[in-house]
Amino acid sequence: MYTDKVMDHFENPRNVGEIADADGVGLVGNPTCGDIMKIYLKIDNDVITDIKFKTFGCGAAIATSSMVTEMAKGKTLDEAMRLSNQSVAEALDGLPPQKMHCSNLAADALHAAIDNYREQQK
Ligand code: FES
Repeated sequence: MYTDKVMDHFENPRNVGEIADADGVGLVGNPTCGDIMKIYLKIDNDVITDIKFKTFGCGAAIATSSMVTEMAKGKTLDEAMRLSNQSVAEALDGLPPQKMHCSNLAADALHAAIDNYREQQK
């Protein structure tokens, strides 16, 4: 039912944790199930130099959190804003149709963290 990549990121999630002096923090909840994802960013010169996440959620939510952190690290903020929930699911070789809603958290939390950083810059 789950791809090998989903299982790998669920069993060995990358970039779990928090960043105490984060430059941006994004928190989103999934209205479908009540699960929550929080993403922390360190940003230098508009590039994401470090990223960590904490997710209270299902296995698909944890796998998509892990994948989005890998995809975002080293990217510029504009590049990271273009990452979509769909592209995260595709990078995991897909999710079962009934779990696609779980991927909504990942890019949304990343984008919320970038928005939070940009707000502070104003
Ligand atoms: Fe809540 Fe998957 S069931 S994110």
